[in-house]
Amino acid sequence: MTKLPDLLIKNIGQLVTAAGASQMPKTSQDMNDLGIISNGAVAIKDGIFIDVGNTKRLKNKYSEEGIRTIDAKGKVALPGFVDCHTHAVFGGDRTGEFVQRIQGATYLEILKKGDGILSTVGNTRKLTLQKLAEISGKCLDTMLLHGTTTVEIKSGYGLDVKNELKILKTIQHLQRTHCMDIVPTFLGAHAIPSEYKSKPDAYVDLVCAMLSKVKPYATFCDVFCDDGGFNTGQSERILSLAKRLGFKLKIHVNEFKDIGGVSLAIKLGVVSADHLDNIEHRDILKLKKSHIICVLLPGVPFFLMKDSYAPARKMIEKGLPVALATDFNPGTCPTESMQMMLSLACLKMDMTPAQAINAATINAAYAVGMPHRIGSIETGKQADMIILDIRDYNQLPYYFGINHVETVIKKGKLVVKDRQIVDLN
Ligand code: NIG
Ligand code: FE
Repeated sequence: MTKLPDLLIKNIGQLVTAAGASQMPKTSQDMNDLGIISNGAVAIKDGIFIDVGNTKRLKNKYSEEGIRTIDAKGKVALPGFVDCHTHAVFGGDRTGEFVQRIQGATYLEILKKGDGILSTVGNTRKLTLQKLAEISGKCLDTMLLHGTTTVEIKSGYGLDVKNELKILKTIQHLQRTHCMDIVPTFLGAHAIPSEYKSKPDAYVDLVCAMLSKVKPYATFCDVFCDDGGFNTGQSERILSLAKRLGFKLKIHVNEFKDIGGVSLAIKLGVVSADHLDNIEHRDILKLKKSHIICVLLPGVPFFLMKDSYAPARKMIEKGLPVALATDFNPGTCPTESMQMMLSLACLKMDMTPAQAINAATINAAYAVGMPHRIGSIETGKQADMIILDIRDYNQLPYYFGINHVETVIKKGKLVVKDRQIVDLN
């Protein structure tokens, strides 16, 4: 007997499934394949897609009577975005620094003076878990309204045991209270806190000591391995211990400078290497031999007013799996909008709209280790889907800087209707 759905969505002008990458992330030519079904429909039961296909077939199969039905009226549907790199738990903002940078100060100058990340650390240490959860919860609502249904969140504005744990517990609180899937990452090695300025290696010791304490709260461990952050030796100490303790690994590399982070990423077998704005040809070739997902964050050079965007087109031509994320944080990318990242990916990194959509959905799902559950619209997968008020997916990055998302379905539930959040439980 046919299983009856509890939700049927029909008349989807272009149903972008991003299907077909069940074993490996999309690379090369496959990154241009969106698996589009014209006049598509999906049937959902208990939070899972139980059928995906043409509207005519699904309407014939499931009599609509008694089944909640949404008419997409010819619009475009996509898998919910997976924002696979954010720093979404922090206090305060950095508007003043933004104005200073416009007038000529650079991000690294500000950081080296003890402001930048460290000013956010001060503001975050001051807040209680409840207050942080309230602030971050609002950011997650904004993400959801803009079509993000899964988000990775890093700690890293605590930089001591008590405050790193507070941030990770805030993330855990959000996992329990917010409808979004949240992947927690420990980034104790985000910056050297001012109290360790003259003894950075002692801070590396402290981060190593934190690892076993934070393990119950974090899936991934990440390190900011770059100029102004941690060198490759320090990064290796932290990440290799994290690996032994059972964390999956991520690494921030080549955001500002090539200090050898890519070779380290390969040696450690990280799941993703993130930023890669300043990458040499030889490192692109080295990455080709690994299974590392290249998480590109075009909002960062954009917001830092730099020309050094990651060479996405070249990376795709060379066969690397590319993902996209916001890097949402108060210093280098204060926006929750994945749609804006898609426009930047196309306009600044020469990605096609189709490549950008695959990078922001299925490949991003690989970057958070969840490709079997999320990232594409396929029978058996979790029903995370968004409906946009456009007729052609190419219009998503084309009409830039606005929100196209009208409807969000999370785990089969209608959570955004007519651009408003309707249910967060
Ligand atoms: O990914 N540069 C390191 N970390 C963040 C920025 C954090 C901040 O400036 O507050 C990044 O760009
Ligand atoms: Fe980051």
